[in-house]
Amino acid sequence: QRLVVLISGGGSNLAALLEATRDPGYGAQVVAVGADRPSAAGLDLAREAGIPTFVERVGDHPDREAWDAALTAAVGKHEPDLVISAGFLKLAGERFLNQFGGRYLNTHNSLLPAFPGIHGPREALEYGVKIAGATLFVVDAGVDTGVIIAQVAVPVLDDDTEDTLTERIKVAERAQLVDSVGRLAREGWRVEGRRVIIGR
Ligand code: GRF
Repeated sequence: QRLVVLISGGGSNLAALLEATRDPGYGAQVVAVGADRPSAAGLDLAREAGIPTFVERVGDHPDREAWDAALTAAVGKHEPDLVISAGFLKLAGERFLNQFGGRYLNTHNSLLPAFPGIHGPREALEYGVKIAGATLFVVDAGVDTGVIIAQVAVPVLDDDTEDTLTERIKVAERAQLVDSVGRLAREGWRVEGRRVIIGR
């Protein structure tokens, strides 16, 4: 299975996928990495691994729709089976979802439906929940509302700061992403209502 990974930042999730996909038995390979900003540090990881990269900045296009079309074309060129948003901080547009909907996955650093958006760990801490975690889901037109593939929980500790909680979540999140994407790729999957059924 061909994976295109979209990032905006450090790319620790990408790094975990790159590591896993070195094993031919994993069932998937990263065929390209895209970003919405040239500064995304994860792009260097891809380059070092010899994987093609592309950057589509919103600001380089006349409007959001044009950006969405460019991103859709850039991803489509690599003919992905799955597109994975791993810390990609942009919402996909209509055209993108028309083309990749149902096989566009996102990993989010909260236990959805709690704390959608970009401050999952901070909001979990502020709310005072005792269990936080990460969610892998199929992206739909909403913000973090898609059908859930997998979730992993981590404890919130009394002396946690946003940084320590974020890091604990990321460790679990990476393992979940690698494990789930491998299973989807090797075993096949389908969506029934709001449930993801893995297997053929
Ligand atoms: C992940 O924790 C993701 O849930 C959040 O941003 C982080 C991405 O980190 N939206 P990285 O770029 O993969 O290190």
